[in-house]
Amino acid sequence: MSKRTVYYIEGDGIGPEVWGPTRPIINAALDKAYGGAKTLDWQELLAGEKAFKATGEYLPQATLDTLKTADLAMKGPLQTPVGKGFRSLNVTIRQTFDLYACIRPIKYFKGIESPVKRPDLVDIVVFRENTEDVYAGIEWSSNSPEAKRVIDFLVDEMGAKIDPTAGIGIKPITPAGSKRLVRRALDFALEQNRESVTLVHKGNIMKYTEGGFRQWGYDLAADDYAGRVVKEGEEADGKVVINDRIADAMFQELLMRPEKYSVLATTNLNGDYLSDALAAQVGGLGLSPGVNMGDTLAFYEATHGTAPTIAGKDMANPGSLILSGAMMLEHIGCGEAADLVRNAVEKALADKKVTIDLSSQIGGATTVGCKEFGEIILANL
Ligand code: NAI
Repeated sequence: MSKRTVYYIEGDGIGPEVWGPTRPIINAALDKAYGGAKTLDWQELLAGEKAFKATGEYLPQATLDTLKTADLAMKGPLQTPVGKGFRSLNVTIRQTFDLYACIRPIKYFKGIESPVKRPDLVDIVVFRENTEDVYAGIEWSSNSPEAKRVIDFLVDEMGAKIDPTAGIGIKPITPAGSKRLVRRALDFALEQNRESVTLVHKGNIMKYTEGGFRQWGYDLAADDYAGRVVKEGEEADGKVVINDRIADAMFQELLMRPEKYSVLATTNLNGDYLSDALAAQVGGLGLSPGVNMGDTLAFYEATHGTAPTIAGKDMANPGSLILSGAMMLEHIGCGEAADLVRNAVEKALADKKVTIDLSSQIGGATTVGCKEFGEIILANL
């Protein structure tokens, strides 16, 4: 019998409600698939409001210490406390544990209303670099002494032309950071028999950052994946094809020819836009799962926020967290249980008894609460 420990953070707002059905559904799927031979040991960690009430800290050291030893964790949404001096807990967790790959699979669920004609053609996994780019947090406001100093340096010593009132932001992108992200995408494509990996970048304009990302991706494929990965235009013969697209063209491609794309590997800001746009394209923002991964820790999470206006009202859709749980099952080699979870969600949507965010998107649907929606999915297992 195998037992894996999963650390979980309930989260703020609708967090406790969406967790309500999630653990029973994941446990039941494992039980059904393996008859007790594979189980999970769920261990709660404190973060957010619940942690603040218990310890006076939003992200207690004990939580960080435990996560240092963990390889598997799941979280509900965490509120970013409003006011100066508070960093987003999500960003702190990502940076502390170097969770450099944000992975979001986007696929259509039958019956959901979508803004495009053929949402069913979308079956794409986005690998977004999570630690670099303009998200590095290196910026100075317009007219600040720091911005002025940087501008003076750039004008006087580097010959740049910049308006002295400009706000300044820095966009660092490294070969190592790019390569470890692209490596994840290539490994995934090879493991899952995916046709292609597309490097998405804006290298025509930002040559040494976005263009660097593209080049380092190709270098990695040539150096470490020779014989298994070929470039677009070469004979594929069952191998994974690596190609690249400029980000603005990619948005058009995903709307017009999504079936041509399978795995995207991209920089932080592009990935942020692309993953939300693709999720909206299939009508599934509320159902969209995700994971942030480092070399040791994989942290699965609902991709939505704390939805404060509906918190405590039994209205939240638990689908995103439940489907993130399915991703986790797949990751730990429990693909059969993952399929059971996805099929149970799919059946609940087909039966049209869904939470309010979805009932407004599905013709003829009946609205049920978060709890009942969870019970329906559990019964479908
Ligand atoms: P949000 O995702 O909480 O809400 C956006 C809209 O979607 C709202 O209308 C909300 O009611 C609805 N919604 C979200 N999740 C839903 C669900 N599961 N079922 C039904 N409806 C749902 O985004 P917002 O309002 O920008 O952020 C609220 C708080 O959440 C902020 O403090 C923000 O920092 C935090 N946040 C946390 C994230 C995380 O922990 N990964 C991600 C995004 C936001």
